[in-house]
Amino acid sequence: MNNSEPSAVSLPLSQRAQRLSAPGTSSMRSKANALKEAGINVVNFAAGELSFDACPVMKAAATDALATARNRYTPPIGLPQLRHALAQQVTQRCGVNYAADEIAVTAGAKQALYNAAMVLLNPGDEVIVAVPYWETFPTQIQLAGGVPVYVDTAADDYRLTCAAVQKALTPRTRMIVINTPNNPTGTVYQREELLGIARLAFAHRLWVVFDECYRKLVRAPHEHHNIVSLFAPLKHQTVLVDSFSKSHAVTGWRVGYACAPAPVIAAMHNLQGHTTSNPSSLSQYAALGSLMADAPHFTRQVNAFLDQQLLAACTCLGHVDGIRCAPPEGAFYLFIDVSRKLGGRYLGSVIRDVDHLADLLLTEAHIAVVPGSGCGDGNSIRISYAVEREALIEGLTRFARFMSEIVTH
Ligand SMILES: Cc1ncc(COP(=O)(O)O)c(C=O)c1O
Repeated sequence: MNNSEPSAVSLPLSQRAQRLSAPGTSSMRSKANALKEAGINVVNFAAGELSFDACPVMKAAATDALATARNRYTPPIGLPQLRHALAQQVTQRCGVNYAADEIAVTAGAKQALYNAAMVLLNPGDEVIVAVPYWETFPTQIQLAGGVPVYVDTAADDYRLTCAAVQKALTPRTRMIVINTPNNPTGTVYQREELLGIARLAFAHRLWVVFDECYRKLVRAPHEHHNIVSLFAPLKHQTVLVDSFSKSHAVTGWRVGYACAPAPVIAAMHNLQGHTTSNPSSLSQYAALGSLMADAPHFTRQVNAFLDQQLLAACTCLGHVDGIRCAPPEGAFYLFIDVSRKLGGRYLGSVIRDVDHLADLLLTEAHIAVVPGSGCGDGNSIRISYAVEREALIEGLTRFARFMSEIVTH
């Protein structure tokens, strides 16, 4: 070997990196994009975002920020005026006082959740996670050295119950993650359910990470409830996580926030100061603009669209035999139980599991879905109904045809 040449054999990655895999949604997105680039008309049900243009109020505020050269670093934890405005808004909607030093502005809800795991967990700390879950929850917990403790909710209509939480508690339990409205199931937790969990978490001195990033996207007559507004003493051990991504159709702008006790936010400030620094200044000004002139009109428009989409989707799925899907109460996902089709045959090949089914749906029917295996549920697939209307109908028609061609006996 020539000593002056760099070796072709790379040195090993860290054990942490070796355990890490790409989110299921992004690997499905790359497979779908590869087919699209080959000229195939793929319907993408795998993306977790609205097909809308961005909220106009946010667009105008971002344009103004760009025109007035708001290009510099901001404090790592966010613009003071944005933290103040968020504190005011959270105080108003929760009926519990929040100050600006209890707010961290982050690059989307994802960074807020990661910060929470990093500043609150010690190695070996257990975190209760409802199954099915958004797959980033357990991954971030593990990155922080924590141990996810999975609680299956399938038998309880995808709801984490007090009894199930109680059963999962050990002396090492340090945190519970609650996500309502829920990705992937669409469940919206009811007041009594949350109150019970809040009291339990309070009694056992557990942190609650409460991810409500779909809170504005709820189907009537369901209502979103915030755990701190239901049980104010829990404020001192809760991290509320919210985002502009889903509700304002700005997933790419990367702006969200966490609300937590001031020492937790101060720790997040230190962490963010050494990792990403501030979220994009333009996105922060856009978020501020939307709080100053909040856009209820946009939210109404989005929910009206989602109502119609859900109706159309349920009509199409009503004709598909051998699947089960409870009508979602919030967010914009259908979580479809396809277990009766697993083990069946499609054009002679046996469908081994949901991953295989998702692959066949992509290659044969040209629709991209998220297999539930990544969410801890090997019986289901997730479909977003926030795509454009034509794509929804076309994609579900292909889905119905494909499913009807599976021979199960
Ligand atoms: C439950 C849940 N939390 C957080 C996020 C992250 O959102 P953001 O784009 O704000 O980082 C997502 C995105 O899919 C999500 O589904």
